[in-house]
Amino acid sequence: MVTYDYSSKNVLIIGCASGIGRATALAFAKSKARLFIADKQDDGLQEIKEEAAKYTHVNSAVVDVRDEKRLIEIHEQAVSLMGSIDCAINNAGISGSFTNLVESETSEWNNVLDTNLKSIYISTRSQLKQMIQQKSGSIINIGSVLSFKGGYGLSPYCSSKAGVIQLTRTAAIESAKHGIRVNAICPGGIETPLLRKHFSEIPNYEQNLLKTIPMRRLGKPQEVAEAALWLGSQAASYVTGQSIVIDGGFSA
Ligand SMILES: NC(=O)c1ccc[n+]([C@@H]2O[C@H](COP(=O)([O-])OP(=O)(O)OC[C@H]3O[C@@H](n4cnc5c(N)ncnc54)[C@H](O)[C@@H]3O)[C@@H](O)[C@H]2O)c1
Repeated sequence: MVTYDYSSKNVLIIGCASGIGRATALAFAKSKARLFIADKQDDGLQEIKEEAAKYTHVNSAVVDVRDEKRLIEIHEQAVSLMGSIDCAINNAGISGSFTNLVESETSEWNNVLDTNLKSIYISTRSQLKQMIQQKSGSIINIGSVLSFKGGYGLSPYCSSKAGVIQLTRTAAIESAKHGIRVNAICPGGIETPLLRKHFSEIPNYEQNLLKTIPMRRLGKPQEVAEAALWLGSQAASYVTGQSIVIDGGFSA
């Protein structure tokens, strides 16, 4: 792991009780960032809070990102406790159920879009308001390789993740003059509970997926966290509006 020094930085991570967000919270903690972490799963949140607190100062809040009022409130809490938000990572997401478009329900569409896209719109907006006052900051939104291609039975997920990229690009263009960078990380198949759930539901999914990945393995959550550390740091000072794909060559 490359070492980064975030010791003077305040970092907000939303969606960090599991998988990629958990690894990212730990990576930033080990880099000495002061953390404000949030998730809807209180038990998972407390567990990662205890782990991260071995390395740094950590505050946490329970939030369901579909609740706009509460999502805005936790941004206010983060600023009041830390004084600034130097880097924000918007990671909370769900894949929804595998259902063909013709058989799908509007309620499923609303749930996935509210969780994966509307929440990133509200979070990015709150983060930009704060960062414009600071005249600095870095926002990292978590998209997917399915931001760029279709996925069988995953129309709400693919649509939401495509939206994350366009929101990221627009936010980057509008905020560059304030010294703010906004980027997306787009993972391919990463070994997390989200993907494991699909492997257990769909016969041969794991074997078939592995055949499409040139590296013939899934990614590790830590390999996504490494990209977040880089994007949030001065090492990426001329990078904005971009989507960094981490997929073992899947999309190549
Ligand atoms: N694992 C993969 O292969 C993969 C691939 C591409 C993109 N992604 C994206 O990466 C992100 C993290 O996924 P993961 O694989 O680590 O999944 P995960 O299920 O392990 O973690 C998702 C986290 O988001 C939180 N979350 C979900 N809905 C929430 C809500 N309404 N309010 C607050 N928190 C909520 C969960 O509690 C959990 O901590 C997601 O946005 C996902 O779409 C994952």
